[in-house]
Amino acid sequence: MNRRKQIYEGKAKVLFQGPEPGTIVQYFKDDATAFNNKKKGTISGKGVLNNRISELIMVRLQGIGIPTHFIKRLNMREQLVREVEIVPIEVIIRNVAAGTLSKRLGIEEGKPLPRSIVEFCLKNDELGDPVVSEEHITAFGWATHQELDEIVNMSLRINDFLCGMFVSIGIRLVDFKLEFGRWYDGEEMRIVLADEISPDSCRLWDIQTDEKLDKDRFRRDLGKVEEAYQEVARRLGILPESGPADHQGTKAIQ
Ligand code: C5P
Repeated sequence: MNRRKQIYEGKAKVLFQGPEPGTIVQYFKDDATAFNNKKKGTISGKGVLNNRISELIMVRLQGIGIPTHFIKRLNMREQLVREVEIVPIEVIIRNVAAGTLSKRLGIEEGKPLPRSIVEFCLKNDELGDPVVSEEHITAFGWATHQELDEIVNMSLRINDFLCGMFVSIGIRLVDFKLEFGRWYDGEEMRIVLADEISPDSCRLWDIQTDEKLDKDRFRRDLGKVEEAYQEVARRLGILPESGPADHQGTKAIQ
């Protein structure tokens, strides 16, 4: 990967120029950050697992007609994606009260919401990714009304699909974050799902026990962080039943 030109280094991923024009190689790191970079650490093997989990989810979403930036997984830590212009908005979809929603509105964590709620945050680390409304987004030109309609419709379809997918493996999809991009295909522009979907960007609770199987284990120092990511991968059928032993083996191929 060192021979490729680095385009951008984020908190959990590095982007390199892809082999063909209009393509990018997305490299998944083990680094983890929380609370707007105030907490930093590493989760051993996270990059390998998130690469596989995100691949599986993107491929399944493409299967129901959601356009995504994903082209193919290249190796343990890298995937080839289309180059897109990222819409500078994080879309958060919530089914159960948790995290900043509970804090902001004083709603007890774990309370099911009357319906799925879509929130928008401006992607701006210096400002701490503030919550913004559709009014802000369209007035400041971060996205048009039409783009936002498409983004919300797609997000709700993704939510319906993923809720069902996770329920079938005994997991409640509490909330998650999506990012979208503009993909220029000749004269045409299409809004496509971008970034990743993984336990870094979702709250995933065991349906029976409410045990957290996501990045909140790192954010809240709950321990067994690696094990939680492995458990999600195992239930999705990605990690062999024998678990961590095989997973350790992947390190040599990184
Ligand atoms: O922290 P908050 O409750 O707003 O997070 C809602 C959901 O969005 C969580 O699943 C969290 O993992 C995800 N998120 C994210 N990246 C951010 C902010 C939130 O993946 N920058």
